[in-house]
Amino acid sequence: MKTYTNAPLPFQGQKRRFAKQIAEMAKQQKKGSIFVDLFGGSGLVSHIVKYARPECRVVYNDYDNYQERLKNVHRTNAMLHSLRPILENIPHKMRIDEPTRSKVIAEVERWNKSGYVDWITLSSNLHFTMNYSRNFEEFRKETLYNKLRQTDYIVDGYLENVEVVSLDYRELFERFKLVPDVVFIVDPPYLSTDCSTYNNADYWRLSDYLDVLKCLQETNFVYFTSSRSSVLELIEWISHNKFNENPFNNARIFRMHVGGIALNYDDIMIVKAA
Ligand SMILES: C[S@@+](CC[C@H](N)C(=O)[O-])C[C@H]1O[C@@H](n2cnc3c(N)ncnc32)[C@H](O)[C@@H]1O
Repeated sequence: MKTYTNAPLPFQGQKRRFAKQIAEMAKQQKKGSIFVDLFGGSGLVSHIVKYARPECRVVYNDYDNYQERLKNVHRTNAMLHSLRPILENIPHKMRIDEPTRSKVIAEVERWNKSGYVDWITLSSNLHFTMNYSRNFEEFRKETLYNKLRQTDYIVDGYLENVEVVSLDYRELFERFKLVPDVVFIVDPPYLSTDCSTYNNADYWRLSDYLDVLKCLQETNFVYFTSSRSSVLELIEWISHNKFNENPFNNARIFRMHVGGIALNYDDIMIVKAA
């Protein structure tokens, strides 16, 4: 089995920086352990665990259909191959201006019309860092940069012997919560992080992050979070300062909408006084 320390196709939020620690954690788990990767993303954690513990069952939750991107890698490689001659005179990382820009867009349109396009991989090759198009309409409006990779993507054996499912994490958790010796891998989208390339990107609110913590009660788990998220601080505070009841119960709530360029939220006033 070939080992990968990065996801073979670009994926935001993959846990490559923890590759060593993940492998060590997997090796320390007891015989017969089952690893359930609730928020599988690129599958990198599942891959690392399977490589470290080939005899163990590893369940990867492919909620974003990363597998489809893997399956189409030959097409993605061919598309990038067809773009290289168009960009041969544009220095690496430089902006792509006319007339080359129109040629790139026409070529991508041709691939789009003939079948599958891996927009995330294409965006990593032609957009500014962290900018992603999800379809041709978005792609044609973006500023393009020559970040074209010069070699093919290789994905061979990446998910070998890993069990793949595609479910809401809650359903997968329900299926395994009573099974002995399960280690849950819990890597939800981070609070205050750009999730635009994820499936269901709009749905992650604070209460959704807190819901995930239910999977950590009386289970074996590996949980990932970031210093940009306040979840740990919030949990610590709440466990030290137990509220008997929600102080906002029976209060009056007033909302004032704040709108403008890049502004769209409500200011809130809560009154519990006569
Ligand atoms: C931080 S990423 C996981 C990265 C992964 N550990 C890796 O190394 O590639 C979080 C993932 O959770 C997925 N996700 C979002 N909502 C979900 C849900 N309700 N159930 C399962 N997965 C979900 C996102 O689409 C994204 O792929």
